[in-house]
Amino acid sequence: MGRLIMNELIQRAARDIAGSGYTIALTGAGMSTESGIPDFRGPQGVWTKNPEAEKRAYRGYQDFLQDPGRYWKERLTSSTGALGELGAREPNPGHHALVELEKMGLLKCTITQNVDALHERAGTRHLLEYHGSFAKLRCVSCNARFRRDEFDLERLMREDRLPPRCSKCGGIVKGDTVGFGEPIPEDVANQSLEEAWKCDLMLICGTSAVVYPFANLPRIARQKTREAQREAAGSLAAMGRVPVVTIIEVNAEPTPLTQDGVSDYIIQGKTGDVLPAIAE
Ligand code: APR
Repeated sequence: MGRLIMNELIQRAARDIAGSGYTIALTGAGMSTESGIPDFRGPQGVWTKNPEAEKRAYRGYQDFLQDPGRYWKERLTSSTGALGELGAREPNPGHHALVELEKMGLLKCTITQNVDALHERAGTRHLLEYHGSFAKLRCVSCNARFRRDEFDLERLMREDRLPPRCSKCGGIVKGDTVGFGEPIPEDVANQSLEEAWKCDLMLICGTSAVVYPFANLPRIARQKTREAQREAAGSLAAMGRVPVVTIIEVNAEPTPLTQDGVSDYIIQGKTGDVLPAIAE
């Protein structure tokens, strides 16, 4: 994308956000590649380079359901793998720009698919971790979240007392990360839907928008405008009051949201460059 067009779109996005009443951000793995964490489907993505790994990932939740004890033994004994290194990664200027927009009172909520906890570490306060977090555990019965160090997992393994049990309801506790085929935790799913309905601007950063149900959220926001236009059709006055949602993508490449006209425009570039420029 040419520099001139890029700058014009950044100015336009800044004006749109400044003029919005309720902006939310939706983020994906593209936010974290500049922190050294590979994404999944980009040119250097984890699934792009190792389709086998994606197939294994599809079985993770089934394995847990079949035998939670074995799931935990494997988790505690296997090499740390990609998730293990996440703790050593730092937020990048893209994460910090979203914190800036939140501090300005413009960004009301960030809904992320990332499990790397980088938004939290950058200081985002209103955060929904749609696919959970590698740094947390979750009770599958009552959805209580725990930090990993709230359980002595090694001792539970030595005493053959895995899986860990929820201190609130006695339910089985697993890693908070939501696996393929695993339902999105109900509290986060409901809050995310509410945000998608409430927003009048959605800033979608660093996601290929191919994984559902997350990829439904922009379509739900777009749908709200279409329904309101249908209701208001016929009365010009009402048309002026239709709650218009502006959907902006910041992504290295176009996505189905671009192709399907769900987003109003895409700023094609790196989130670590574009988001700070918008915040500025
Ligand atoms: N700036 C902007 N966009 C980027 C950058 C960057 N620095 N780096 C990569 N991208 C883009 C890629 O081109 C791609 O379109 O970000 C997108 C990342 O898409 P995916 O790798 O599919 O990641 P994501 O959309 O978050 O995947 C969704 O799939 O594997 C599951 O649960 C996992 O949460 C993940 C979900």
